[in-house]
Amino acid sequence: MYSLPAPDGPDPFPAYDRLRRQGPQRDTDGGAWLLTRFADVRQALQAPQLRIRPAAVPGAPWLGDGPAAALFRNHVRMSDGDAHRVRRSRMAAALERLSPAEELAAAAAVETDLRLDRLAGAAGLEAMSALAFPVPLSVVAHWLGLAAGDAERAATLAGRFAPALLPWSAAAQLADAQHAAADLTDLLSEQVRRGSLPFFQALTEAGGPLRPLDTAEAVAAAAGLLAQACDATAGLLGKTLALLLRDPALAARVRSAGTVDPDLLDEVLRFDPPNHSTRRVAAAPVTIGGAAIRPGDDVVLILAAAGRDARVHVDPGRFEPDRFAVARRLDAAAPRHLVFGAGPHACPGEAVARAIVAGAAAAVLRHRRGLSLRDRDMDWRPSGNARIPACLWLA
Ligand code: HEM
Repeated sequence: MYSLPAPDGPDPFPAYDRLRRQGPQRDTDGGAWLLTRFADVRQALQAPQLRIRPAAVPGAPWLGDGPAAALFRNHVRMSDGDAHRVRRSRMAAALERLSPAEELAAAAAVETDLRLDRLAGAAGLEAMSALAFPVPLSVVAHWLGLAAGDAERAATLAGRFAPALLPWSAAAQLADAQHAAADLTDLLSEQVRRGSLPFFQALTEAGGPLRPLDTAEAVAAAAGLLAQACDATAGLLGKTLALLLRDPALAARVRSAGTVDPDLLDEVLRFDPPNHSTRRVAAAPVTIGGAAIRPGDDVVLILAAAGRDARVHVDPGRFEPDRFAVARRLDAAAPRHLVFGAGPHACPGEAVARAIVAGAAAAVLRHRRGLSLRDRDMDWRPSGNARIPACLWLA
């Protein structure tokens, strides 16, 4: 028996390394299977026997029956089976109607510049609250097609709603998330009713092989996209900035390229991802890495640990900016990391997150204030599955 290392405490990677050497183990607290090897985590992400949620618990017990529970219940990510298949296919069609990733990178750069200009007189700058959280939210809200005022309001509400997705959020945050969920639902329902945004049209129009989403599902899809833009993307932006600002040569490279190239971003994701794990529950027996997982067993897929598997990467504990550029020349299909998941629930927002982070990070580096990292040590936001900087002071 092992205990799941806390992602928000002292460096959890040594504990992940020990676990990976052992192969699948049961957690001392609750008995969930802990998977850390790349091959095991990848198999689990694709295993039809493993589901996102227990069939008997369709909602989120910590949200009771409030407006946040309805958004949670109807969200793409929280569903399995037929409901998931329809919601996900509809979502993919809706995302295709939106502007491409390159435009998002440019939008993220403009939004970052605007915010930095507004803070021009300030002595220091806390980049998580000033940039990393608000920039992705604002960019995604505009990307959905919301008009300026509505986009700002939706972004603010989604930021307050996001803690509802996490069972470990504080009671006060959860109470506030319920109010925000109610207002966000009203705002987005009105957009669905008007029917003028291509994003919502693609979700709700009749015709084609799939049923249209109802209003509650369409609203949850948009609220979910906004909420997803919030935590993980903010975490990736904060960590990318911290890594770049610690390494002047790397920062110079990004500044001259005008972007964070995808190979470098993959190494940031592999080495120090924002989200460390995701969960499944077994609906049928399955064997993974020699572990006989039985129906009803909980499974924790430690994506961050899989990225440091020496069976896949040479010297995995070293941050190597050129690792993937070199690997790509040798074998373009070589595995990289599982930070965006894989299989039926793989992240549909990967390109969005990458574009926003690349655009915003490059904008910070080329900003005329010439920002640098003030503190080298970082604290982490309380979380059961993510390692996201609580604050990041720049000067
Ligand atoms: C760095 C940023 C991000 C990371 C690391 C990330 C990671 C992930 C992962 C690991 C999953 C799969 C969860 C599982 O299998 O249990 C996922 C699912 C999902 N992500 Fe992301 N994500 C990010 C940003 C985004 C953004 C910006 C959006 C929206 C624009 C988004 C939308 C979604 C949705 C809707 C799902 C559910 C997919 C499904 O269940 O079919 N993500 N994400």
